[in-house]
Amino acid sequence: MMICCLQTLLLLGAQLVFSIPNSFFYHDFLNGNGNKEIHFSGVKLHVDSAQPSVFAVTGGNATMPCRFWYEPELSSPRDVRVKWSWLPTAAGGQETDVLVTIGSRSKTFGDFRGRVQLRQDFPGDAALVMTKLLLNDTGRYHCEVVDGLEDKSTSVYLELQGVVFPYHRACEEQGSILATFTQLFQSWKEGLNWCNAGWLADGTVQYPITQPRVPCGGHGLAPGVRSYGRRHLHLHRYDVFCFSSSLRGKVYYLKPSHKMNLTEAQQACQEDGAEVAKVGQLYAAWKLTGLDSCDAGWLADGSVRYPITRPRRNCGPSEPGVRSFGFPPPQHKHGVYCYKAGDE
Ligand SMILES: *[C@@H]1O[C@H](CO)[C@@H](O)[C@H](O)[C@H]1NC(C)=O
Ligand SMILES: *[C@@H]1O[C@H](CO)[C@@H](O)[C@H](O)[C@H]1NC(C)=O
Ligand SMILES: *[C@@H]1O[C@H](CO)[C@@H](O)[C@H](O)[C@H]1NC(C)=O
Repeated sequence: MMICCLQTLLLLGAQLVFSIPNSFFYHDFLNGNGNKEIHFSGVKLHVDSAQPSVFAVTGGNATMPCRFWYEPELSSPRDVRVKWSWLPTAAGGQETDVLVTIGSRSKTFGDFRGRVQLRQDFPGDAALVMTKLLLNDTGRYHCEVVDGLEDKSTSVYLELQGVVFPYHRACEEQGSILATFTQLFQSWKEGLNWCNAGWLADGTVQYPITQPRVPCGGHGLAPGVRSYGRRHLHLHRYDVFCFSSSLRGKVYYLKPSHKMNLTEAQQACQEDGAEVAKVGQLYAAWKLTGLDSCDAGWLADGSVRYPITRPRRNCGPSEPGVRSFGFPPPQHKHGVYCYKAGDE
């Protein structure tokens, strides 16, 4: 009996001790400075992008949208930190910083220096404007907004318009870059049909088939981009898939007074203020500017090819494409495709 009542008294005492300061604290908080704090913690920062992906061309510009706002709206603007970073599409690509802006101060990084800036056209505008795009700028761009209390982000994918072509040497020598899976897939959708497997930028080996046939895995397999998976770089040899995008300059067939061997072809382009076109440049001109010529001509790698956008009789197969005569001996006589740099 005694023990029971003592416990009850102790419990009542404990409740009194803790409940009184608590109610005082709450009271004070609502009517004093605390009021503002409660209001601010109810404000939410939002960040989003109007587009999940942006398409552009090399040498051109791109704007990656990103905007932030508060809910409910703030009466006065707050200083935020905006950070753009980039995750390249290539294998082993690491997230790298592009630009960091705090108020009016801004810092850009690495190859992005002098090519990027924050747009800031309206309150909350954090779009990234990029100029002089390079072939290897593709990938995921991450827009992160930090305002001290909150940290929100969104991302935009940068893709370049271009053309994928199969090749058997290094892409870089041909004014191009190893294609990504997305680029190969896009070309497959546009009809690329190639029976030889080739490397992609992610280290896998794949081949695009639009018309299933016996030597390419048979009729039983559905059309698609077929993968051999990841292969060992030094133990297996395949072609490569190169990606080339638009040119600052022009590819043209040089009408010769007579047919030329490879050395004469190089001289003819030089005398015209140009150089012999690379394979990637010819593909880009065929795909992006509709270059069409039924004349076979030398290219810089010693191959002989010609681009057809309007298939017709005596100009090869019935589908558009860049036709190849392979690598004839250099003393053979042909025309030549030249490339003249410039912005026209
Ligand atoms: C890219 O942007 C720069 C600077 O804003 C401008 O001078 C240039 O004309 C733009 N280029 C293209 C291809 O729109
Ligand atoms: C991208 O390409 C440019 C020139 O084409 C080169 O200078 C740069 O190092 C490349 N960047 C990366 C990350 O590979
Ligand atoms: C091309 O022809 C010229 C003569 O016009 C000759 O000097 C040169 O060796 C030839 N080059 C090749 C690769 O056959």
